[in-house]
Amino acid sequence: MSCVVFISGTGSNLNAMCEAGLAPDINLVVSNNPNALGLEVAHKYNISTKVINHRNFNSRQEFETQLQKALEPFNFDYIVLAGFMRILSAEFVNHYAQRIINIHPSILPAFAGGNAQLQAYQARVKVTGLTVHFVTANLDSGPIIAQAVVEVLADDSYDELRNKILTVEHGVYPFIIKKLLQGKVSVTDTGYVKVIHEAADRPILNNHLGRVYY
Ligand code: GRF
Repeated sequence: MSCVVFISGTGSNLNAMCEAGLAPDINLVVSNNPNALGLEVAHKYNISTKVINHRNFNSRQEFETQLQKALEPFNFDYIVLAGFMRILSAEFVNHYAQRIINIHPSILPAFAGGNAQLQAYQARVKVTGLTVHFVTANLDSGPIIAQAVVEVLADDSYDELRNKILTVEHGVYPFIIKKLLQGKVSVTDTGYVKVIHEAADRPILNNHLGRVYY
């Protein structure tokens, strides 16, 4: 199976996917931001890119029509959102039902929406982390595939916390995308996501920064 990746910015998760050997499984990288640094990551790994600047369209619908047109020539199973900063409409999401996944930098349903790390930092929580989930029409709320817990220490600065979470993202997201592309992820009737575990998995993911549940 293969995927396309949507980005808007730095593309450090895209880079982590490529470093983990996923570049041949990424058929296209789409950015809504012409200046996204992540486009350079795609070029470095010889992945096709397409820029569709949302500012050139009068409505979300027109923007998404162009997105869909850009995807048409490509074969892919999943759309991977990696720092894609546009909300996708219910129409778009339903068109690719159960085929869009996202990584959100908090343990959902806590701290949904923007600036999740800052929300957690300001709430003075003891743990926060990240969630990999299927995308549904409701923001940050689809079936949860994996979550990682990151401890917040008393003297962590906001930047330190953000970086800790991001570092764990770089381990977890490529790992889960590999599982998806290998057909090892399924959603039960009750909406619980099952991921097939293998003996080698856990030691790779759990380290001093975070603990991963999937
Ligand atoms: C990450 O924090 C991710 O959780 C959020 O957006 C950020 C993307 O960073 N969805 P990058 O563009 O992958 O570096």
